[in-house]
Amino acid sequence: MNNAKSNLEKKEDIISRFMAEMEHDPENITYEYLRDITLNFVIAGKDTTAGTLSWFIYLLCKHPYMQEEIFQEVKEATRAGQDICINEFVKKITIESLDKMKYLHAALSETLRLYPSVPLNSKSCFSDDTLPDGFNVNRGDVVFYMPYPMGRMEILWGDDAENFQPERWLDDDGSVRNESPFKFTAFQAGPRICLGKDFAYTQMKIFAAVLLHFFKFKLCSKSNDVHYKTMLTLHIDQGLYVLAYLR
Ligand code: HEM
Repeated sequence: MNNAKSNLEKKEDIISRFMAEMEHDPENITYEYLRDITLNFVIAGKDTTAGTLSWFIYLLCKHPYMQEEIFQEVKEATRAGQDICINEFVKKITIESLDKMKYLHAALSETLRLYPSVPLNSKSCFSDDTLPDGFNVNRGDVVFYMPYPMGRMEILWGDDAENFQPERWLDDDGSVRNESPFKFTAFQAGPRICLGKDFAYTQMKIFAAVLLHFFKFKLCSKSNDVHYKTMLTLHIDQGLYVLAYLR
Protein backbone atom coordinates (compact mmCIF):
# COMPACT_ATOMS: atom_id res chain seq x y z
CA MET A 1 0.00 0.00 0.00
CA ASN A 2 1.53 3.34 -0.97
CA ASN A 3 1.83 6.22 1.50
CA ALA A 4 -0.77 8.47 -0.10
CA LYS A 5 -3.36 5.69 0.00
CA SER A 6 -2.61 4.69 3.58
CA ASN A 7 -2.89 8.36 4.62
CA LEU A 8 -6.30 8.58 2.94
CA GLU A 9 -7.50 5.45 4.70
CA LYS A 10 -6.48 6.89 8.06
CA LYS A 11 -8.70 9.91 7.42
CA GLU A 12 -12.33 9.64 8.42
CA ASP A 13 -13.94 12.16 6.06
CA ILE A 14 -16.20 11.07 3.24
CA ILE A 15 -14.13 12.41 0.33
CA SER A 16 -11.02 10.56 1.56
CA ARG A 17 -13.05 7.37 1.68
CA PHE A 18 -14.19 7.82 -1.92
CA MET A 19 -10.63 8.67 -3.00
CA ALA A 20 -9.31 5.55 -1.30
CA GLU A 21 -11.78 3.53 -3.41
CA MET A 22 -10.62 5.12 -6.71
CA GLU A 23 -7.95 2.46 -7.24
CA HIS A 24 -10.51 -0.37 -7.02
CA ASP A 25 -13.12 1.28 -9.21
CA PRO A 26 -11.35 3.80 -11.50
CA GLU A 27 -14.09 3.65 -14.15
CA ASN A 28 -16.84 4.85 -11.85
CA ILE A 29 -15.02 6.89 -9.21
CA THR A 30 -13.48 9.63 -11.32
CA TYR A 31 -12.56 13.18 -10.31
CA GLU A 32 -15.77 14.42 -11.99
CA TYR A 33 -17.72 11.95 -9.87
CA LEU A 34 -15.99 13.23 -6.73
CA ARG A 35 -16.82 16.80 -7.74
CA ASP A 36 -20.50 15.88 -8.17
CA ILE A 37 -20.60 14.01 -4.85
CA THR A 38 -19.05 17.00 -3.07
CA LEU A 39 -21.48 19.43 -4.65
CA ASN A 40 -24.39 17.12 -3.86
CA PHE A 41 -23.43 17.03 -0.18
CA VAL A 42 -22.92 20.78 0.00
CA ILE A 43 -26.28 21.51 -1.68
CA ALA A 44 -28.18 18.78 0.19
CA GLY A 45 -26.56 19.36 3.55
CA LYS A 46 -26.00 23.11 3.95
CA ASP A 47 -29.09 25.20 3.13
CA THR A 48 -31.39 22.52 4.54
CA THR A 49 -29.86 22.47 8.02
CA ALA A 50 -29.06 26.20 8.08
CA GLY A 51 -32.63 27.07 7.04
CA THR A 52 -34.13 24.71 9.63
CA LEU A 53 -32.04 26.30 12.38
CA SER A 54 -33.26 29.78 11.37
CA TRP A 55 -36.91 28.68 11.55
CA PHE A 56 -36.15 26.89 14.83
CA ILE A 57 -34.72 30.08 16.41
CA TYR A 58 -37.72 32.01 15.07
CA LEU A 59 -40.17 29.56 16.64
CA LEU A 60 -38.29 29.53 19.95
CA CYS A 61 -38.43 33.33 20.07
CA LYS A 62 -42.20 33.03 19.62
CA HIS A 63 -42.30 30.47 22.47
CA PRO A 64 -39.71 31.69 25.03
CA TYR A 65 -40.59 29.03 27.64
CA MET A 66 -39.39 26.39 25.17
CA GLN A 67 -35.98 28.07 25.04
CA GLU A 68 -35.80 27.57 28.81
CA GLU A 69 -36.99 23.98 28.53
CA ILE A 70 -34.25 23.18 26.02
CA PHE A 71 -31.64 25.11 28.03
CA GLN A 72 -32.45 22.98 31.10
CA GLU A 73 -32.43 19.77 29.09
CA VAL A 74 -29.05 20.57 27.52
CA LYS A 75 -27.62 21.50 30.92
CA GLU A 76 -28.77 18.22 32.44
CA ALA A 77 -27.69 16.11 29.46
CA THR A 78 -24.19 17.59 29.39
CA ARG A 79 -23.89 18.07 33.18
CA ALA A 80 -22.33 21.43 32.42
CA GLY A 81 -21.56 23.63 35.43
CA GLN A 82 -22.66 27.24 35.76
CA ASP A 83 -19.48 28.98 34.55
CA ILE A 84 -18.24 26.51 31.98
CA CYS A 85 -16.41 28.05 29.00
CA ILE A 86 -17.42 27.22 25.46
CA ASN A 87 -14.38 24.99 24.73
CA GLU A 88 -15.08 22.84 27.79
CA PHE A 89 -18.80 22.78 27.03
CA VAL A 90 -18.24 21.50 23.50
CA LYS A 91 -16.24 18.56 24.88
CA LYS A 92 -19.33 17.53 26.84
CA ILE A 93 -21.40 17.18 23.70
CA THR A 94 -21.10 13.48 22.96
CA ILE A 95 -23.34 10.98 21.18
CA GLU A 96 -24.62 9.93 24.64
CA SER A 97 -25.45 13.48 25.77
CA LEU A 98 -27.08 14.30 22.40
CA ASP A 99 -29.19 11.19 22.74
CA LYS A 100 -30.59 12.51 26.02
CA MET A 101 -31.79 15.75 24.37
CA LYS A 102 -35.26 14.42 23.49
CA TYR A 103 -37.15 17.70 23.75
CA LEU A 104 -34.60 19.40 21.49
CA HIS A 105 -34.97 16.55 18.99
CA ALA A 106 -38.76 16.93 19.16
CA ALA A 107 -38.57 20.71 18.68
CA LEU A 108 -36.43 20.26 15.55
CA SER A 109 -38.88 17.72 14.11
CA GLU A 110 -41.73 20.08 14.89
CA THR A 111 -39.85 22.89 13.11
CA LEU A 112 -39.43 20.68 10.05
CA ARG A 113 -43.10 19.70 10.14
CA LEU A 114 -44.17 23.36 9.87
CA TYR A 115 -41.22 24.62 7.82
CA PRO A 116 -39.83 21.70 5.78
CA SER A 117 -36.54 22.64 4.08
CA VAL A 118 -37.81 21.13 0.82
CA PRO A 119 -41.39 22.48 0.79
CA LEU A 120 -42.45 20.81 -2.43
CA ASN A 121 -40.88 18.07 -4.47
CA SER A 122 -41.59 16.41 -7.78
CA LYS A 123 -40.84 13.10 -9.44
CA SER A 124 -41.04 12.03 -13.10
CA CYS A 125 -42.53 8.66 -13.93
CA PHE A 126 -40.11 6.35 -15.73
CA SER A 127 -42.93 4.06 -16.78
CA ASP A 128 -46.71 3.71 -16.63
CA ASP A 129 -47.72 2.83 -13.12
CA THR A 130 -50.59 2.76 -10.62
CA LEU A 131 -50.28 4.68 -7.35
CA PRO A 132 -51.34 2.94 -4.10
CA ASP A 133 -54.72 4.76 -4.16
CA GLY A 134 -55.46 3.35 -7.64
CA PHE A 135 -54.61 6.52 -9.59
CA ASN A 136 -52.93 5.74 -12.92
CA VAL A 137 -49.87 7.66 -14.05
CA ASN A 138 -48.19 7.49 -17.43
CA ARG A 139 -44.54 7.47 -18.40
CA GLY A 140 -43.28 11.07 -18.42
CA ASP A 141 -45.96 12.39 -16.03
CA VAL A 142 -44.69 14.59 -13.23
CA VAL A 143 -46.07 13.93 -9.75
CA PHE A 144 -45.70 16.50 -6.95
CA TYR A 145 -45.92 15.95 -3.22
CA MET A 146 -45.96 18.92 -0.86
CA PRO A 147 -44.40 18.61 2.60
CA TYR A 148 -45.37 22.22 3.52
CA PRO A 149 -49.16 21.84 3.32
CA MET A 150 -48.96 18.18 4.40
CA GLY A 151 -47.26 19.30 7.64
CA ARG A 152 -50.28 21.52 8.38
CA MET A 153 -53.13 19.18 7.42
CA GLU A 154 -55.56 18.59 10.30
CA ILE A 155 -56.47 15.21 8.87
CA LEU A 156 -52.85 14.13 9.45
CA TRP A 157 -51.86 16.07 12.58
CA GLY A 158 -55.10 16.87 14.39
CA ASP A 159 -56.96 20.08 15.23
CA ASP A 160 -53.80 21.77 16.53
CA ALA A 161 -51.89 21.15 13.29
CA GLU A 162 -51.06 24.86 12.92
CA ASN A 163 -49.53 25.07 16.42
CA PHE A 164 -45.86 24.61 17.23
CA GLN A 165 -46.01 21.82 19.77
CA PRO A 166 -42.85 19.70 20.22
CA GLU A 167 -44.70 17.50 22.74
CA ARG A 168 -46.53 15.79 19.88
CA TRP A 169 -43.20 14.07 19.08
CA LEU A 170 -42.77 12.64 22.58
CA ASP A 171 -44.31 9.50 24.05
CA ASP A 172 -45.60 9.40 27.62
CA ASP A 173 -42.25 8.01 28.84
CA GLY A 174 -40.42 10.95 27.19
CA SER A 175 -38.94 8.97 24.30
CA VAL A 176 -39.03 10.40 20.79
CA ARG A 177 -42.00 9.24 18.73
CA ASN A 178 -41.07 8.30 15.17
CA GLU A 179 -43.65 9.18 12.55
CA SER A 180 -43.96 7.38 9.25
CA PRO A 181 -41.86 9.19 6.61
CA PHE A 182 -44.94 9.00 4.38
CA LYS A 183 -46.72 11.28 6.89
CA PHE A 184 -43.75 13.41 7.98
CA THR A 185 -42.31 13.93 4.51
CA ALA A 186 -39.60 16.54 5.22
CA PHE A 187 -36.86 13.99 4.43
CA GLN A 188 -38.83 12.25 1.66
CA ALA A 189 -39.67 8.55 2.03
CA GLY A 190 -38.87 5.20 0.46
CA PRO A 191 -35.60 4.13 -1.16
CA ARG A 192 -34.54 7.71 -1.95
CA ILE A 193 -35.11 9.07 1.56
CA CYS A 194 -32.52 11.66 2.65
CA LEU A 195 -29.21 9.92 3.25
CA GLY A 196 -28.13 12.61 5.69
CA LYS A 197 -31.16 12.54 8.01
CA ASP A 198 -29.37 11.28 11.14
CA PHE A 199 -26.35 13.40 10.35
CA ALA A 200 -28.63 16.46 9.99
CA TYR A 201 -30.24 15.89 13.41
CA THR A 202 -26.79 15.44 15.00
CA GLN A 203 -25.44 18.58 13.35
CA MET A 204 -28.51 20.68 14.23
CA LYS A 205 -28.62 19.40 17.82
CA ILE A 206 -24.94 20.25 18.40
CA PHE A 207 -25.43 23.74 17.01
CA ALA A 208 -28.67 24.37 18.89
CA ALA A 209 -27.25 22.99 22.17
CA VAL A 210 -24.26 25.35 22.05
CA LEU A 211 -26.34 28.39 21.05
CA LEU A 212 -29.08 27.85 23.63
CA HIS A 213 -26.68 27.01 26.42
CA PHE A 214 -24.92 30.34 26.08
CA PHE A 215 -27.55 32.71 24.68
CA LYS A 216 -31.18 33.74 24.98
CA PHE A 217 -32.76 34.95 21.76
CA LYS A 218 -35.35 37.64 21.17
CA LEU A 219 -36.84 38.73 17.87
CA CYS A 220 -36.03 42.21 16.58
CA SER A 221 -39.25 44.03 15.76
CA LYS A 222 -38.68 43.76 11.99
CA SER A 223 -38.69 39.95 12.30
CA ASN A 224 -41.85 39.78 14.39
CA ASP A 225 -43.85 38.45 11.53
CA VAL A 226 -41.63 36.72 8.98
CA HIS A 227 -42.67 35.17 5.67
CA TYR A 228 -41.14 32.46 3.60
CA LYS A 229 -39.38 32.99 0.32
CA THR A 230 -40.14 30.47 -2.40
CA MET A 231 -36.85 28.96 -3.55
CA LEU A 232 -35.58 25.39 -3.87
CA THR A 233 -35.32 25.37 -0.06
CA LEU A 234 -37.53 27.27 2.37
CA HIS A 235 -35.80 30.52 3.27
CA ILE A 236 -36.95 33.30 5.58
CA ASP A 237 -37.70 36.27 3.35
CA GLN A 238 -35.31 39.16 4.19
CA GLY A 239 -33.52 36.95 6.76
CA LEU A 240 -34.14 36.65 10.50
CA TYR A 241 -33.15 39.47 12.83
CA VAL A 242 -32.66 38.50 16.47
CA LEU A 243 -30.99 39.85 19.58
CA ALA A 244 -28.74 37.38 21.39
CA TYR A 245 -28.25 37.89 25.15
CA LEU A 246 -25.47 36.08 26.99
CA ARG A 247 -26.97 33.93 29.77
C1 HEM B 1 -32.83 19.46 7.79
C2 HEM B 1 -32.00 18.85 7.03
C3 HEM B 1 -32.32 18.08 5.78
C4 HEM B 1 -33.51 17.91 5.12
C5 HEM B 1 -34.88 18.45 5.49
C6 HEM B 1 -33.23 17.08 3.96
C7 HEM B 1 -34.19 16.69 3.04
C8 HEM B 1 -33.92 15.91 1.94
C9 HEM B 1 -34.90 15.54 0.93
C10 HEM B 1 -36.36 15.98 0.91
C11 HEM B 1 -34.28 14.75 0.02
C12 HEM B 1 -34.89 14.12 -1.24
C13 HEM B 1 -34.63 14.99 -2.44
C14 HEM B 1 -35.16 14.32 -3.70
O1 HEM B 1 -34.61 13.32 -4.12
O2 HEM B 1 -36.12 14.78 -4.27
C15 HEM B 1 -32.89 14.61 0.44
C16 HEM B 1 -31.94 13.88 -0.23
C17 HEM B 1 -30.63 13.79 0.13
N1 HEM B 1 -30.05 14.35 1.25
FE1 HEM B 1 -30.99 15.47 2.66
N2 HEM B 1 -31.90 16.77 3.94
C18 HEM B 1 -31.30 17.36 5.02
C19 HEM B 1 -29.95 17.30 5.37
C20 HEM B 1 -29.01 16.57 4.71
C21 HEM B 1 -27.62 16.48 5.10
C22 HEM B 1 -27.00 17.18 6.30
C23 HEM B 1 -27.00 15.69 4.18
C24 HEM B 1 -25.58 15.24 4.07
C25 HEM B 1 -24.63 15.52 4.87
C26 HEM B 1 -28.00 15.26 3.23
C27 HEM B 1 -27.76 14.44 2.17
C28 HEM B 1 -28.70 14.04 1.24
C29 HEM B 1 -28.41 13.22 0.08
C30 HEM B 1 -27.02 12.65 -0.31
C31 HEM B 1 -29.61 13.06 -0.61
C32 HEM B 1 -29.85 12.28 -1.91
C33 HEM B 1 -30.31 10.87 -1.58
C34 HEM B 1 -30.68 10.10 -2.83
O3 HEM B 1 -30.99 10.68 -3.84
O4 HEM B 1 -30.66 8.85 -2.77
N3 HEM B 1 -29.21 15.82 3.59
N4 HEM B 1 -32.71 15.32 1.61
